[in-house]
Amino acid sequence: MAEAALVTGAASGIGRAIAERLVADGWDVLAVDIAPAEDGPGDPLVADLTTREGNRGAVDAALARFGRLDAVIPNAGFQHVSPVESFDEDRWDALLALLLTSPFLLSRYAWPALRDSGNGRIVVVASVHGLVASPFKAGYVSAKHGVMGLVKTLALEGAAVGIRASAVCPGYVRTPLVEEQIADQARAHGMPEERVLEDVLLAPQALKRMLEPAEVADAVAYLLGPGGVLHTGAPLVLDGGWTAR
Ligand SMILES: NC(=O)c1ccc[n+]([C@@H]2O[C@H](COP(=O)([O-])OP(=O)(O)OC[C@H]3O[C@@H](n4cnc5c(N)ncnc54)[C@H](O)[C@@H]3O)[C@@H](O)[C@H]2O)c1
Repeated sequence: MAEAALVTGAASGIGRAIAERLVADGWDVLAVDIAPAEDGPGDPLVADLTTREGNRGAVDAALARFGRLDAVIPNAGFQHVSPVESFDEDRWDALLALLLTSPFLLSRYAWPALRDSGNGRIVVVASVHGLVASPFKAGYVSAKHGVMGLVKTLALEGAAVGIRASAVCPGYVRTPLVEEQIADQARAHGMPEERVLEDVLLAPQALKRMLEPAEVADAVAYLLGPGGVLHTGAPLVLDGGWTAR
């Protein structure tokens, strides 16, 4: 019987690449998104993960469809770029709900099934912004730092019951989330869009290149596989040397 995974934000970018990779590796995948892709990969499920019902419904649907749940990959996210003094308060609430509370709720609701799996894994797609800050991203940076604390706690509680919890912390990845950010960053920094990639986004990285979504999916597959057997409570950092400074 195939192992089963729940991947959020699976219609686009990194989540889509993770779902594709897991399907190719033989997993049953519930591909959860607020706007799911019609053409897969995985079994699509519509859910708004900023709500409790959305997270509960996603776990229930995975168990109903596959009868088991071996891995949860909280990945859905968005960015909001703004100075603190004008940072929209509703955007703050939504960022915390999606990037921090959803991984907590999914872990909470999936916990019994992950325990029954005997090899339960939670792999949160966090960010280098879980480890360091950048200006104009108060909500995102705060939520990503928070989820690193959640991963550590899940790892300590999960160790006794065969559940591991890890985070992947990429620098910039070539996805719609980043492409949409370039115009916002240009406005916030008062510079032309052409200069944003080199002077702002990639400035802190030693290696001046973005990751591809499939390369993040490789890291997730590694953590889920035998190589990740002792990886828990820690980040796997793919930041091109950002945090080496
Ligand atoms: N792109 C990067 O450079 C980068 C770097 C580090 C970390 N990340 C993280 O990777 C994750 C995925 O980002 P991406 O770049 O692939 O973004 P993306 O915009 O390509 O995909 C995000 C997906 O999340 C879904 N989503 C948004 N709100 C939702 C909600 N309320 N409920 C359910 N689904 C929702 C969207 O519909 C979309 O399909 C995010 O957590 C992001 O913070 C991205």
